[in-house]
Amino acid sequence: MKLQAADLAVLGGTPEFAEPLFVGRPNVGDTARLFARLQGVLDRNWLTNGGPLVREFERRVAERAGVRYCVATCNGTAALQLLARATGMRGDVVVPALTFVATPHALQWLGLRPVFCDVDPRTGNADAATVAAAITPRTTAILAVHLWGRPCAAEELEALADRHGLTLVFDAAQAFGASYRGRPVGGFGAAEVFSFHATKVVNAFEGGCVVTDDADLAERLRAMCNFGMNGSRDVLGPGTNAKMSEAAAAMGLTSLEAYDASAAHNLANHRRYARELAGVDGVRLLRFDERQRNNYHYEVVAVDPGAGLGRDTLAEVLTAENVIVQKYFSPGCHRLPPYRDRAAVSLPHADALAARVLALPTGPSVSLEDVRRICDLIRFAVAHAPTLANRAEAYLAG
Ligand SMILES: Cc1ncc(COP(=O)(O)O)c(C=O)c1O
Repeated sequence: MKLQAADLAVLGGTPEFAEPLFVGRPNVGDTARLFARLQGVLDRNWLTNGGPLVREFERRVAERAGVRYCVATCNGTAALQLLARATGMRGDVVVPALTFVATPHALQWLGLRPVFCDVDPRTGNADAATVAAAITPRTTAILAVHLWGRPCAAEELEALADRHGLTLVFDAAQAFGASYRGRPVGGFGAAEVFSFHATKVVNAFEGGCVVTDDADLAERLRAMCNFGMNGSRDVLGPGTNAKMSEAAAAMGLTSLEAYDASAAHNLANHRRYARELAGVDGVRLLRFDERQRNNYHYEVVAVDPGAGLGRDTLAEVLTAENVIVQKYFSPGCHRLPPYRDRAAVSLPHADALAARVLALPTGPSVSLEDVRRICDLIRFAVAHAPTLANRAEAYLAG
């Protein structure tokens, strides 16, 4: 327990946690089940190319997402790129500025032009108003994002896209298991993309997918991720290799079986964070609408001026205590190469949030007691903000 500022690890004290706590520790599930599945893959000697585990994984993901089709891929970025091509995107595509850089990069890599829009300062998500402000006659599509697993205003965006005759797809990389107004994420727009990267709530080591209700789109995607070939190995058009392997699906299925327990654990942690941080000046937990389903995999706070210490100082304090926080996502993508060289765009809410947000550890490897101790550290840091701010200034002055 810290009694005075000098007890903080950043000022020379002993770290609060002997072992580091992380954001996005892999949710593996039952390792015996995983090994049994992998043994089956080896026994069948069927390692990739649409094997039984990939097909089962696709069925289970489609079921969860409430859609008819799921096309599994080697990662989420490839899924975004396949979807951009399969939906015929050209020219300018509106994208929120606050997201992981993979979202705009997926488009830029294909020669499309991401055009960044601002976000709602309360949720971090783009909405119909901020997307509408970025639409021009050159816009052909909208790639919306459910940031931190919180569904964006998907129905309002559907109406906006319809009014403008634009393609609408969603980067749902972080939002597996979530719902918006009672509808599962997965069924909005023309299609949605999940990531099953190791750090996601369900992981397949590396993996991703496109989910959709559009049979024709699904069929084209399935061919595109297999060199443009259909099930009879006829080449239908250009394609690439973006298939999911059987080993990845073995992990995906095992991790998926653990999803309900992982999400329930995360929800309990979220409630504890909310309770513990309620009285801490300037540290604002971004709340979920608990009437909706969510994976609660991202526990995000905004460090406002009232805290008396900046987000970066708090991050430094917590990291020294072995609480490995992440500045997800800072800076906004419009400030990153190659996008920052474009004519200056003013996206005040994205900039303000990007400067303040901090993702805190959660997941099954983080207990309620860990959460309490993390919050004690945050409270302690805020109470000693002047000392820490002086230290940061002294450090910056060299
Ligand atoms: C919002 C977002 N989009 C896209 C991706 C890319 O997914 P992947 O890492 O599976 O390629 C990620 C995660 O990495 C993400 O968080």
